[in-house]
Amino acid sequence: MPRIAVLIVAAGVGERAGGGIPKQFRPLHGLPMLRRSVLAFADYPGIAFILVMIGQGQETQAAEALDGLAHLPFVAGGATRQESVRRGLEALAAHKPDYVLIHDAARPFVSRALIGNLIAAMESGAPAAIPLVAVADTLKRETSGGVWATVSREGLFRAQTPQAFHFDAILKAHRAHANESVTDDMALAELAGLRIANVPGEEINTKMTRAEDFQLAERWLAGGAEFRTGMGLDAHRFVPGDHVWLCGINIPHDATLEGHSDADAGLHALTDAILGAIGQGDIGQHFPPTDQKWRGAPSSLFLEHAAKLVREAGGEIIHCDLTLICERPKISPHRGAMQTRVAEILGIDRARVSIKATTTEGMGFTGRREGLAAQAVATVRLARP
Ligand code: CTP
Ligand code: MG
Repeated sequence: MPRIAVLIVAAGVGERAGGGIPKQFRPLHGLPMLRRSVLAFADYPGIAFILVMIGQGQETQAAEALDGLAHLPFVAGGATRQESVRRGLEALAAHKPDYVLIHDAARPFVSRALIGNLIAAMESGAPAAIPLVAVADTLKRETSGGVWATVSREGLFRAQTPQAFHFDAILKAHRAHANESVTDDMALAELAGLRIANVPGEEINTKMTRAEDFQLAERWLAGGAEFRTGMGLDAHRFVPGDHVWLCGINIPHDATLEGHSDADAGLHALTDAILGAIGQGDIGQHFPPTDQKWRGAPSSLFLEHAAKLVREAGGEIIHCDLTLICERPKISPHRGAMQTRVAEILGIDRARVSIKATTTEGMGFTGRREGLAAQAVATVRLARP
C-alpha cells in the first residue's frame, strides 16, 4: 500500500475575496472553507496524513476550523503559494510519502471520485496527474485600450487542484526551480520534464477567489441538493449448515442460507435500496446470478459497488435503515458489529447506519424458519442536475 500525503495550502490572505478575514476561514454554509477542503480527504482509504500550511499567527483560527479532524501539526507557509508548497513538501519529506496530493484550501468542493482518479493515475505509474477542464468560453485579449483580439481556445485547458505527484519527483522539481515564479505545481512538473497524466477536472471543483464565488456557493449549498430514497427487499432459504452471513458478519447457526453468493440477505436488501435511490436498477442487473464469477462471493463487494456508484454520481449516502426478519439467529448480540461493518463497507459514519430485527411471531415463511428476509431503506443526497 503506497503512503499518500495530502498537502493543503491555506497561507494566503484572500485579498480578491475580501470579507474581512482570510477566505480559508470564511464560513460556507456553516463550515469554514478550510474545514470543507480537509473533510474532502478525511478517511479516504490510503491517505496517511494531511498537512495544512497556514499564515503567521493563524494557529488558533486554523485549529478551531479543523477541530476534531486528524492532521499533522500546522506549518507556516511563505510569501507566495509556490513558497508555501515548497515548505510543505520539505516538512513532509521526513514522513517519506510515496505520493502527494497538493491542494488549494480555496477548492472546498473536490469530489472523492476525482481524488480516486488521481490516485489511480499515480498507481499506474504516472509521476504527475492533473485535473484539467477544457476551456469552453471564447477567449479575448485586449491588445491595447479598446482594441481586442480573439485567442483560439483550441487545446487550452484550465488546471485545477488537487494535483498528484510522486513525492520525490515534485520535491526535486520545487527545489530545482525555486527561482522561477509559477502559479501551480504542474508548471514545475513541466519544467522538470515529468510525464503528466491528466484526469477529468470538475466544474464544481471551482476555486473560490472572488466575493461572487462565495455568493454562488452559498446558493448552491442551500438549494443545490436533492434527496432520494430507495428501498430493497431480499429473502433466502435456510438449508443444512453451520453459519450464516448477515450484514457482513459471520454468525454461527444450526443452518445456513442458500444462495449464489454468500446469501447475505441484509447486504442484498441494502444494496438494492441504494441502487434504487440512484435509479441504477437492481443487484441482479449488476451481478447476474448466472455469472460464475459471483459464486460464493462476499456480498460486501455488491454493497461497495453501489456506494461507489453513489460517489461517482457526486452523491452521498445520508442514512440507511435495515430490518432483518427471522426467528433465529438472534440478531441483538451482533447488531453493533453489523452496524460497524456496514458503515465500513459504505465508507460512511456509523451513526448513519441503523440495523433492526424482528420476528413474525411464528407466522409465514420466516416464522416457520424456512428462510430469512431483510428490508432496507436508503437516503441519498445528489447534486441537483
Ligand atoms: N496560498 C498559500 N500561500 C500563499 C498564497 C496562497 O498557501 N502565500 C494558498 C491560498 O491560501 C489558497 C491557494 O494558495 O488556498 C490558492 O491561492 P489563491 O486562491 O490566490 O488564494 P489567496 O492568495 O489567499 O487569494 P488572493 O490571491 O486573492 O489574495
Ligand atoms: Mg493568491
